[in-house]
Amino acid sequence: MDLNLYLKQKRKSVDDFLKKYIASKKKRKDCPEQLSKAMGYSLMAGGKRIRPILALAGYEAVGEGSDNILPVAASIELIHTYSLIHDDLPAMDNDDFRRNKPTAHKVFGEATAILAGDALLTDAFHIISGARVDPEKLICVIHELSKASGPEGMVGGQTADIMLESKKAKKKDIIYIHTHKTGALIRASVRIGAIMADSSPDKLSSLTEYAEKTGLAFQIIDDILNITGTKEELGKPTGSDDAKGKNTYPSTFGLKKSEKIAEQLIKESLKALDAFDKKADPLREIAKYILSRRN
Ligand code: IPE
Ligand code: IPE
Ligand code: MG
Ligand code: MG
Repeated sequence: MDLNLYLKQKRKSVDDFLKKYIASKKKRKDCPEQLSKAMGYSLMAGGKRIRPILALAGYEAVGEGSDNILPVAASIELIHTYSLIHDDLPAMDNDDFRRNKPTAHKVFGEATAILAGDALLTDAFHIISGARVDPEKLICVIHELSKASGPEGMVGGQTADIMLESKKAKKKDIIYIHTHKTGALIRASVRIGAIMADSSPDKLSSLTEYAEKTGLAFQIIDDILNITGTKEELGKPTGSDDAKGKNTYPSTFGLKKSEKIAEQLIKESLKALDAFDKKADPLREIAKYILSRRN
C-alpha cells in the first residue's frame, strides 16, 4: 500500500472536519473571538494528525463497523492540541515554537493560551457526546479518552516529566513518563477505533499491544529527533531536552541503545498484528513510519 497517499487522504478528512469545527466556533457569538482565534491558530497549524489517523486505521483493521467515526477521531486531535499548547507554556517546557509557528502563548498571551487549551479539551467531549453513534459505544469511547488524557494518563505523565526535570530519573520513571505523557493517548486512539468497529475482545487486546509498543516508540523517536533533527524538519526547537535537564530515552539509555529499543518495539508491535489480514496494513505501515519519521 501507498502509505503517503493513505496519510494524505486521512489527514484531509480530519482537517476538513476540524476546519468546519473552527468555522462554527467563530460564528458563535457566545464564544469570544479571541478564544476561537487562539483555538483555530493552534489546531490548524498543521500537525501530522497521527492520533486520529490511528483511530481510523484501528477501525479499518477490525473492519466490521459502519459508524461515522470521524467526529470521534478528530476529537482526539483537539485533546492532543490542547496538550501541546499547555506543554509549551512558560510554566511547563517554555517553548516558543510549535508546528512551525510561534507558540500560542507567544501570540495570544498566557491566559488566552491556557483557556484555548481548556476549551479544546472540553469541546472534544462535547463533540463526542453529539456524534450519531450508539450511546453505549460513546460511553466506552468517553471512558477510554478521559482515562488516557487524565491523571492516570497524559496529565500524570506530564506531571512526572515536570517533577523530575533536572533530576536523574530511574529507568522505571522514564518508562512511566513516556507511556503516560504520550503512550496513553496513542493507545486510546487505536482502541477507540477498534471499539467503534465492534472489535472482539481478542482483537482489541492485540491492537492494544500494538498501540502500547508504537506509542512508546513514538516518544522515544521524539526524544531522538530532539537531538538529531533540525528545527526546520520538526517545526519546533531541537536540543531543548538537554538544555532543560529533561529525562529522555537518550539521556537514560544513550542514543544508539534508544534507537535499538525503538526498533525492537516496532518489531513487537508488528508481531501483535500477526493474526490480522491486510485490512491492518495501514497500522503496519504507520508503525514503520513512526520509526523512520523525520518530523
Ligand atoms: C508531539 O506530537 C508531542 C508528542 C507527544 C511527542 P506530534 O509529533 O504528534 O505533533 P504534531 O501533532 O504532529 O504537531
Ligand atoms: C509532549 O512531550 C507530551 C505532551 C504534549 C502531552 P514533549 O514535551 O517531550 O514533546 P515536544 O517535544 O514538546 O513536542
Ligand atoms: Mg513536555
Ligand atoms: Mg515539550
